[in-house]
Amino acid sequence: MFDLGGQIVLVTGASRGIGRAIALELGRAGAEIAVHYHVNRPGAESLCAELGRIGVTAKAFAADVGSWEETARMVRAAGDWRGRLDGVVTCAGIFRGDDTEGIGAKDFESVVRTDLEGSFRTIQCALPYLRKSVRPSVVTVSSVLAGHPAIGGAPYQAAKAGIEQMTRALALELAPRIRVNAVAPGFIRTDMNRTAHENPRTREAIAKATPLGRWGEPADVAPAVRYLLSLEADWITGLVLGIDGGIPMSR
Ligand SMILES: NC(=O)c1ccc[n+]([C@@H]2O[C@H](COP(=O)([O-])OP(=O)(O)OC[C@H]3O[C@@H](n4cnc5c(N)ncnc54)[C@H](OP(=O)(O)O)[C@@H]3O)[C@@H](O)[C@H]2O)c1
Repeated sequence: MFDLGGQIVLVTGASRGIGRAIALELGRAGAEIAVHYHVNRPGAESLCAELGRIGVTAKAFAADVGSWEETARMVRAAGDWRGRLDGVVTCAGIFRGDDTEGIGAKDFESVVRTDLEGSFRTIQCALPYLRKSVRPSVVTVSSVLAGHPAIGGAPYQAAKAGIEQMTRALALELAPRIRVNAVAPGFIRTDMNRTAHENPRTREAIAKATPLGRWGEPADVAPAVRYLLSLEADWITGLVLGIDGGIPMSR
């Protein structure tokens, strides 16, 4: 079940956190992995080494996905690596949780540029390589905050809501050849929300607000991405799959 043997998959933001767990899961399922990172080259290289130890071919590719030129170069290099892409997972992202009055033009722009434009541009540049695949598929990474607002970080929440509609729009436009789906994680223990997790008050509050009673781990998200990329999900497109411990029901 959910075998990805022979697939070549680009995972952005794979140097740490959720992207890293996704890359490992896809590798364990048999895929070769193009490991994207921004600045954390040691993270990307240690992931390639870890994948190598379980017999998975992997190669690291760098880019700031907020730059259209850099993203195009990176996707071209990743696509040329094996000559095609069967899967693309756009996980690279940044978070800012500031209140509205504390948000400057650069803060707003960097969140939307990295999270929303970065995901779009990656998929756009990957299309010629996905079209060379027999069964191509894309998974974007949204957030529970796209549809269930929290106080602070309005630009991030708007960017993630944009990712969800972009996912549906691309799913429609690229059907029937290329499937496009999204995962929308709840609160996952990564560098992104280290401050909230290290603060006992917010740590407890988030666990309490989650019907399944705990924070998520990156490994909670990865199997869903594996499923969405697999043959078993061959008739699923335009879906936003929440992986959130049930948070939407409690809000
Ligand atoms: N953690 C959560 O609770 C949560 C919840 C819902 C959704 N998400 C989403 O899940 C995704 C991964 O989050 P995470 O928690 O795993 O975050 P993380 O641990 O902070 O990792 C972020 C990843 O994105 C890359 N990245 C950051 N800025 C970039 C840029 N300008 N260009 C290219 N790559 C860049 C980083 O590369 P470097 O290592 O090279 O810096 C890293 O690989 C994000 O899209 C996030 O919005 C997270």
